[in-house]
Amino acid sequence: MSKIIFSGVQPTGNLHLGNYLGAIKNFVELNDDNENQCIFCVVDLHAITVKQDKHELKNNIRETAATFIASGIDTSKSIIFNQSEVHAHAEGSWMLSCMAPMGWLNRMTQFKEKAGKDKEKASVGLYIYPILMASDILLYDATHVPVGEDQKQHLELTRDIAQKFNKDFNCEDFLKVPEPLIKKKFSRIMSLKDGSKKMSKSDPSDLSRINLTDSKDEIVNKIKKAKTDSYPIPNEEIKLKDRPEAQNLLGIYSSISNQTLDKTLNEFGGKNFLDLKVQLAEILSNKISPITNEIKKLTNDKKYLDKILLDGASKAEEIAGQKIKEMKKIIGF
Ligand code: AMP
Ligand code: TRP
Repeated sequence: MSKIIFSGVQPTGNLHLGNYLGAIKNFVELNDDNENQCIFCVVDLHAITVKQDKHELKNNIRETAATFIASGIDTSKSIIFNQSEVHAHAEGSWMLSCMAPMGWLNRMTQFKEKAGKDKEKASVGLYIYPILMASDILLYDATHVPVGEDQKQHLELTRDIAQKFNKDFNCEDFLKVPEPLIKKKFSRIMSLKDGSKKMSKSDPSDLSRINLTDSKDEIVNKIKKAKTDSYPIPNEEIKLKDRPEAQNLLGIYSSISNQTLDKTLNEFGGKNFLDLKVQLAEILSNKISPITNEIKKLTNDKKYLDKILLDGASKAEEIAGQKIKEMKKIIGF
């Protein structure tokens, strides 16, 4: 059976190496397999769960689409669109939010992290964000959802919601229960400044992440300044225990080079971090710079990007609109 792949990325700027290695690089591999029908969504409705600047939002939507294309997603094979253009997402989200118990949402750790200490001030949208995500996925009968490790809990919730809907309305297999596609290794890229925190768009320190729009010099400088520890690089994975910064840099090197951690440890075992950093900066520059250049070229062509997004939205609308119709009928409208 062919796979239906769905994933989303928020247009909140600063797309970084974590987004690339944790998600977008996998999107490209899935797009390259002709058996797959892939749908990649710029989830702009998710982005507004926290305050956005109106003008930046529009640019970030285009830049996220440009990043998909620059990374190698082929728009003649995969659908790329932005969520707010397809009504079904918000509509489905409402219907699913009427089925999902609050107790399930109360367990979501990302809400707790993002809302921080002052939960009372967080938007209701931020709280029900995972239901909109479930709607995104379920409207397309997605069989597989490639994401970074941080989205695992949201995918489990999506599966639970699908099963509850099918049971509540006695419509077995109507909402398809999707499988997460989370890489076993390197699915959580950490901050360059603190190996216990994930690399994130919202980290106030730009030195904590490699942005996909960074120049070669910026990449070299950030890798040079990346936190390490004072021991040499070991030759066995087990000896990386309790050394999060070393684990992270070696993981990034392995992931970007498409090789196992064992092979990387063979290369660098016994050496110091300077050797690793020089080579890591070089390979990152070589792999990221062509993408950066292409993003820049594409973002200068707003008309082209807008057309890709609109064409994508019309294809997405056909699929999601049909599913919403069926959903409404099942509910009793
Ligand atoms: P977001 O930017 O939050 O919309 O995330 C887009 C995709 O990137 C999701 O699949 C995330 O799981 C993934 N992602 C974000 N940050 C990281 C990270 N530090 N390491 C690995 N994957 C990540
Ligand atoms: N919540 C995801 C993130 O922050 C983005 C997202 C929204 C998504 N809808 C989705 C990912 C559907 C996969 C499938 O990373």
